[in-house]
Amino acid sequence: MHRLLQRQISRFLNDQGAMPEGLSEFLAAVGDAYESADADRLLIERSLDLMSKELTERNAELRKELAERRHAEAQLEKLLSLLGTTLESTADGILALDKEGRIVRFNQRLVEMWHMPDETLAFWRHAPLVQHLLGQVTNPDAFMENLNYLCLHPEAECYDTFDYIDGRVIERYSLPQPLGVDNVGRVISFRDITARKQAEEALQREKEEQKALIKKLEEAHNQLLQSEKMASIGQLAAGVAHEINNPIGYINSNFNTLGEYVEKLFRVTDAYERTEPALAGESLLDEVRSLKQEADWEYLKQDIRELLRESGEGIGRVKQIVQDLKDFSHVDQVEWQWVDLHKGIDSTLNIVNNEIKYNAEVIKEYGVIPQVECLASQLNQVFMNMLVNASHAIGDGGRGRITIRTGAEDEMVWVEFTDTGKGIPPENLKRIFDPFFTTKPVGKGTGLGLSLSYGIIEKHQGRIEVESEVGKGTTFRLRLPASQGLPETL
Ligand SMILES: Nc1ncnc2c1ncn2[C@@H]1O[C@H](COP(=O)(O)OP(=O)(O)OP(=O)(O)O)[C@@H](O)[C@H]1O
Ligand SMILES: [Mg+2]
Repeated sequence: MHRLLQRQISRFLNDQGAMPEGLSEFLAAVGDAYESADADRLLIERSLDLMSKELTERNAELRKELAERRHAEAQLEKLLSLLGTTLESTADGILALDKEGRIVRFNQRLVEMWHMPDETLAFWRHAPLVQHLLGQVTNPDAFMENLNYLCLHPEAECYDTFDYIDGRVIERYSLPQPLGVDNVGRVISFRDITARKQAEEALQREKEEQKALIKKLEEAHNQLLQSEKMASIGQLAAGVAHEINNPIGYINSNFNTLGEYVEKLFRVTDAYERTEPALAGESLLDEVRSLKQEADWEYLKQDIRELLRESGEGIGRVKQIVQDLKDFSHVDQVEWQWVDLHKGIDSTLNIVNNEIKYNAEVIKEYGVIPQVECLASQLNQVFMNMLVNASHAIGDGGRGRITIRTGAEDEMVWVEFTDTGKGIPPENLKRIFDPFFTTKPVGKGTGLGLSLSYGIIEKHQGRIEVESEVGKGTTFRLRLPASQGLPETL
């Protein structure tokens, strides 16, 4: 361009014929300078182009970054809104603390749960807040201890429960808030578990009630088994008694006749003996005498009477046992009936005599009592247990006393069994009527005797009283109404 200008200037001046001296050098120099400037301009222009391109690219990048950032911010905002809503919509009270234990965030549920007053809320300072919390829990020391522990152990997780003074039960769960490798704070959630606890307690109570019910059922079942056992023993006894009753009846009757015959025979032989002097010198008499001598006739006569007396006694005892078994079992008399209790006690005594005769002397101090309306076989079971217990309390090898007293007061009849046994320690006294309570070795006692007796006496509208002194002895007193007042039995 500048060369073209230079050439045009030169051509114009040459055409004018007035090309001044040195002008062409000047023009050449100007041309050079112009050229060099042009080259610079080109260079600048090129670098400007380059810069503008870079700027455009950078601008595009910035726009992209900006768009990304806006997107990220929108996402973050969304996330924060989600977290905020989550925080508010949870049923738990949430408290977020920073590393230094300062409150960063909490939700409305927490405010309600802790009954936060406005003035505490206005500041959200640690000390007044903690003070407020401590005033609401039943065990502030434990609560504080937990807070201190969490401050000292930022990495610790913690779970516990505590009680509010208003009766609520709160579950507390705390987790550290990690950011990268650091913990930047912690979040504590509080959950009201009062209803759950109450439900659990109700369930527990229900379970215990069920357990008690099952135990009662088992006891009732066992009592039933025991009374069935007693009833079948009674039946067996009655069966045996019945079977023996007939043969012993005719043995007794024959035996009495036999005794009478023997006496008659003796009267005959006595009469023969009286004829002996008249037969003196007769060889037959010698034979009779030697036979009598051989047989030890005098002793024989005496022993036959003795044998008959003893056997008579034996038969009498068998008859008594049979009668006792019948009285004891009363199997054919399951109805309420009017009985003489003394008879029941006596027949029971005969039955358990074997058990008690070795260690106890039985003293009867019977008073005057009216007949009692009762289930006789069941009362006999009670008497039997009283007597056996008394004998066991005296123990093997010992020699003690069992005194049976009876009496009546107003409309009540009482029967007392006093023993000189080892007595019952006070701590056992309230348990002796419990089913299966026994202090006896396995096999000797089931622990059902007194609980059954209690049930039987209760059924008779009576009661059992007990007095005992360790080392001295025990008295069981049964009190029974003479009448049950049952119209059909009157
Ligand atoms: N007269 C008594 N003297 C001392 N302790 C007694 C007496 N009577 C009962 N007891 C105590 O009461 C407990 C319960 O008596 P209970 O008659 O119910 O059962 P048991 O005699 O042990 O067994 P079971 O009668 O079923 O054979 C006895 O184990 C004993 O410790
Ligand atoms: Mg017993």
